[in-house]
Amino acid sequence: MFLTISGATGLIGRRLLKIYPPDKHSVIILGRKNPELSPLFQFGHWNPTAAEPSRELLQRSEVIIHLAGEPVAQRWTPEAKTSIRDSRVIGTRNLVSAIGKLLHRPKTLICASAVGIYGDRGDEVLLEGTPAASGFLPDVCTAWEAEADRAIEHGLRVVKIRIGIVLAPDGGALQSMTPLFRACLGGVLGSGKQWMSWIHVDDIAGMIQFAAENESVSGVLNGVAPNPVTNREFTRELASALHRPAFLPAPEFAVKLAYGEMAQMLFASQRVKPQAALKAGFPFQFPQLPAALAAIYP
Ligand SMILES: NC(=O)c1ccc[n+]([C@@H]2O[C@H](COP(=O)([O-])OP(=O)(O)OC[C@H]3O[C@@H](n4cnc5c(N)ncnc54)[C@H](OP(=O)(O)O)[C@@H]3O)[C@@H](O)[C@H]2O)c1
Repeated sequence: MFLTISGATGLIGRRLLKIYPPDKHSVIILGRKNPELSPLFQFGHWNPTAAEPSRELLQRSEVIIHLAGEPVAQRWTPEAKTSIRDSRVIGTRNLVSAIGKLLHRPKTLICASAVGIYGDRGDEVLLEGTPAASGFLPDVCTAWEAEADRAIEHGLRVVKIRIGIVLAPDGGALQSMTPLFRACLGGVLGSGKQWMSWIHVDDIAGMIQFAAENESVSGVLNGVAPNPVTNREFTRELASALHRPAFLPAPEFAVKLAYGEMAQMLFASQRVKPQAALKAGFPFQFPQLPAALAAIYP
């Protein structure tokens, strides 16, 4: 397969590169600096907010997988919010604008999005057709997806994957949670009733591959495991996987003090189901949380 991947150096991108080794596939990595991976990967310099990517490189791709974006899990200062939004919205606009100018266009654009689009929804089951919420993250995701959809006008099949909390041994949400739990300082967040829609990193990378290789898939896929859990259940399972107790609840006011506005994201309840992926026949390797955590902490 001829692929171009932005954000290939990130948590999901690194896993994806294992699925598409450069000796078997032609992979172009677009990024802000050369990651010095295998020389078999071709590298194209691209700062998503600054300019359009090289058309010469895009021209050679069948599938473009666009994952780049400023990390969301940080204090939302005004500068950080601008960077979180622009790296996704302007970045995707620049990418799609370059695609529109190609003589030979790729067939498919797979664009990351996030379950953050649904906002804070209590116990409501959230499917791909559920309307987006409003607020900082929902608005960013809505604008990001709209920019990706402009590629449909250029004849591409567009898939937007609304990714949940990615569980991996080498980064993401668990990287900040694990040391606390290992030190017996882990505990439920607030009431613990908020739903967490998680996915194992192998499954999100697999879902991207599935979307890239199945021409019948288009539109939105919720990139989450079929069995979301409450924060209370997540806390219990993580503590058990790490063989530690979890008795120190983190009160909402303290988390808000520590993280500011970003704490919204930690308390948002999102009970998301991957209806479209299941209907399309995507085989989840880790549909249940205990097995996903056991694979991460063997
Ligand atoms: N991991 C999750 O739990 C999760 C959940 C929901 C949604 N997502 C979305 O899925 C995508 C990939 O996630 P990930 O966890 O693999 O992300 P990640 O580890 O944070 O990596 C994303 C990549 O984006 C590029 N990047 C970072 N800051 C940037 C900026 N200011 N401007 C332009 N590019 C920037 C970097 O690539 P270079 O340095 O090579 O340019 C980085 O490797 C992201 O868009 C993320 O929002 C992830």
